[in-house]
Amino acid sequence: MGANKFPEGLSKLETTLLGILRQGSATFQDILGRAGNADPRVVKDCLHELAKHQIVQLRDDSYYVNTLKLHELNITLLPKPKPDHILRKAQEVLTYLPVEAPVYSQWWFPSDVIRNVLELILTQHPTAKTFCFVGAPSLAATFAALVEAEITIVDIDPKVCGSIQEAQNMFRASFVQIVNEDVTTYIPENFYDVVYSDPPWDFNSLESFITKCPSFVCSGGHFYISYPGNSTRPGIEVEKLYLAKLLSSNDMALVSYYTGFLTYNVPEFELSAYSDIPGFTKDPWRQGDLATYQRCSTDALAKVEERIKRPLARKSWNEFAIGQRRVFLRINEQDKFHLVTPSILPIYPSATKPSVSSRDLELETVGLWTSRNEAFSTSGNHIIAYVLMNFERGVLDFEKIVISVANALYQPKERVDTILRGLCSQLRTILEI
Ligand SMILES: C[S@@+](CC[C@H](N)C(=O)[O-])C[C@H]1O[C@@H](n2cnc3c(N)ncnc32)[C@H](O)[C@@H]1O
Repeated sequence: MGANKFPEGLSKLETTLLGILRQGSATFQDILGRAGNADPRVVKDCLHELAKHQIVQLRDDSYYVNTLKLHELNITLLPKPKPDHILRKAQEVLTYLPVEAPVYSQWWFPSDVIRNVLELILTQHPTAKTFCFVGAPSLAATFAALVEAEITIVDIDPKVCGSIQEAQNMFRASFVQIVNEDVTTYIPENFYDVVYSDPPWDFNSLESFITKCPSFVCSGGHFYISYPGNSTRPGIEVEKLYLAKLLSSNDMALVSYYTGFLTYNVPEFELSAYSDIPGFTKDPWRQGDLATYQRCSTDALAKVEERIKRPLARKSWNEFAIGQRRVFLRINEQDKFHLVTPSILPIYPSATKPSVSSRDLELETVGLWTSRNEAFSTSGNHIIAYVLMNFERGVLDFEKIVISVANALYQPKERVDTILRGLCSQLRTILEI
């Protein structure tokens, strides 16, 4: 146990869970609610694995992260400064950034937005080591003042780069590189774990940031970009469609989209431009959406393509309401009138069922599925259906069931009796009736 348990680093889910738990304890349900829809059983197993290695401690039904132990295991999490502390640093940074220049489409974030975005980044990527901020100087400078990480800041404006350079003594980052360059010509020496960008919203800038920035991201790494709101200009939807195609052709998968997450300070040039409009003030009004993408491997994509070739076996179910339960039985047209011996075999042999949804199930193999997630492979479904129909009507008497099935199938009562005997009691056990 110990240092070599995580030679490859933490898995994606382990990283997510540590990001959630880093601020102390949380109940299982709370962790689950923030784990991005991971399956509860997978989350439980993952937490137990981390607990086994003393990274997380389990107390009753709460967990907390032991970061000291993490350090021993050579896993370092980025520190997570308190929200107030981030806010103060952001306010400080905003005092030394130059007045916004219209020529570069500069709109600075208010300090509370800087805090919200940085909190999001630190929660989502607690183990990331290298960051690149392109066209987001207020965020970049605040981040550098708070976190020991390797940070590259790219911006076209020499004045902005100069003012950040001058504030170097404020930085806590282990390494800061300030690159005064156009994004279209910048070539990084290494790939980054996280690339954050806030381009000007004219189409050409969006296009050039989206063409260039994804190539800075390592495989599995993340790319953030802001988008203009839907009324920004006519045809913005089509522009976004074009940009989405560009991103997907670069293997970037959309992982989150926060509508209206960003607001912007009103720069002096904007205040002047609209000074004739009565009621136009300096209060922030401009909103942007924040999208996050992840770089996926081409191999992983090929596997998904393989999967979608298989048909979805979702349709054609008969439904019965028996007691508190709903029971779904697949309709098999081909064996409708034959007298076969039906069978019901549990797909999960133990009492533990892996998942509530089809994500773990080979759906094609399921013949009977209950609303308590008991799943079975079956044969002779038409006979099972007759029995369930009787149960649904409240008929549990074996003799009566035999007579109704014998009549329905035009078969002698004695033969039906033999094949129904085991089936009825098995179904009653499953349905607890
Ligand atoms: C809309 S502002 C975003 C500023 C951000 N909200 C902040 O508070 O840090 C766009 C930023 O991108 C920079 N920029 C504009 N065009 C650029 C380009 N082609 N390459 C690199 N940076 C660029 C501008 O100088 C400006 O800092």
